[in-house]
This record gives sequence, structure tokens and C-alpha cells, in this order.
Amino acid sequence: MDQELINTIDHYIAGLVAPADEVLETTLQTSADAGMPQIHVSPVQGKLLHVLALLNGARRILEIGTLGGYSAIWLGRALPADGQLITLEHAARHAEVARANLERAGLADRVEVRVGDALTLMQQMIDAGTEPFDLVFVDADKESYRDYFQAALQLMRPGSVIVADNVIRRGAVLEATSPEPTVQAIQQFNAALAADPRVTATIMQTVGVKGLDGMAIAVVNR
Ligand SMILES: C[S@@+](CC[C@H](N)C(=O)[O-])C[C@H]1O[C@@H](n2cnc3c(N)ncnc32)[C@H](O)[C@@H]1O
Repeated sequence: MDQELINTIDHYIAGLVAPADEVLETTLQTSADAGMPQIHVSPVQGKLLHVLALLNGARRILEIGTLGGYSAIWLGRALPADGQLITLEHAARHAEVARANLERAGLADRVEVRVGDALTLMQQMIDAGTEPFDLVFVDADKESYRDYFQAALQLMRPGSVIVADNVIRRGAVLEATSPEPTVQAIQQFNAALAADPRVTATIMQTVGVKGLDGMAIAVVNR
């Protein structure tokens, strides 16, 4: 693959449909300044999340893995004024930076950053009988993806959408006997998602400035 050409195409697409603005640029800059890893979604992927949220008329969104709030801004901007996004992050420093970025984005009234282990926080929401989410975006530790999927199913309704990032891992998922725990976990997640009769799923290869990877997208069956 010609990564240079792929990058140029990604920049072309981003220039058309996901041009950077001051809020998004500052979000990435403050995250980098805080020494956080540069593992946010790309602009084009952020716009995909935004479009998916608009497509299913999302009023309530759950994000697993906040980092500096970059994808949360893309998702939050798709919410109506009375919508809500809850984003889960176990690193207190990441949550602090994200809160400042979401405030700067004018989304503090509809985006809540909850700090803690995502599975624990999801179980608390299940136990509390939390109103279902219309869209769940999974983008945290890969080892827990299967558990996030099972927990998310208890927090969604028929027609809800679940999106999971990084499910191809530069093709490493093709290696059936991979010794890599994250690859094994993603292989198990992909198989579980594909086989689960409660959802209709697809997996799209993603190429772009983030390299070769994939996004799983599924809808909870009606
Ligand atoms: C890939 S980054 C999220 C990127 C973000 N969604 C974006 O695109 O802007 C993953 C984040 O998940 C957090 N994380 C990892 N394991 C977690 C866990 N068990 N519970 C909550 N957050 C976790 C990490 O600290 C990191 O900030």
C-alpha cells in the first residue's frame, strides 16, 4: 500500500467533509501538551461517528474511552440541545483535559465525563436501570471489548447502534494463532459480534492517516 497516497486522500476527504476548526485543533493540541497518547480517531472517522449519530437520531450516546475528548466532540455535536453523551475514562488526567476541551466546545451542558473503570461504570448504569442509549462507541482497552459488547447490549434498545474502533489491527486479526492478547481479544469480539442474533453487524476496513484498521458497526435488532 502507498501510505503517502492514502494520507493524501484522507486529507482530501477531511478537507471536504471534516475540516479542522479551532476547537478540534485545540483539543488535539492540549491533549498532546498534556503528554497523552495520540490515539484519537482521525477527522474523517470523527465525522463518520457524527453522521452515524445523526442517522439514528441519537439523543443519548455512551462512549467508552474519552482520552482528550476529540471523538466526544464529534459525537456531542450531533446531539440535539436536550441530548446527552456520557463518556467513560479511567485516567483522571485524561478526563480533566477532556472536560476542559468539552467546555471549550460549548458541550459541557450535554457531555458528562465519568471517571473510573468503564465496565464497573457500565454495570452501575445497568443496576440503576439507566435509560437506554441510542449509540454506543467502544474505543478503550481492547481486552475488554467482548465484555463492553455484552454490557452495552443491556444499555441499548432495538434500533440502537454500537460502533467499535480498531477491530482489524493492521490485519493482525488474520493470524489465527496470534500470541498477542489484544489481537486474541479483538478476534473474539469480532466473532461474538458476528454470531450474536441480537444484532446485525458489519465490519469495515478503515484506511487513512491512522493506517490500516477497521470499525465494527452493528444495530440492535428490532
Ligand atoms: C483510544 S483512547 C480513546 C480515544 C477517543 N475515543 C478519541 O478518539 O478521541 C482510549 C482511552 O480509553 C481509556 N481506557 C482504557 N482502558 C479503560 C478502562 N478499563 N476504563 C475506562 N477507560 C479506559 C484510556 O485511558 C484512553 O484514554
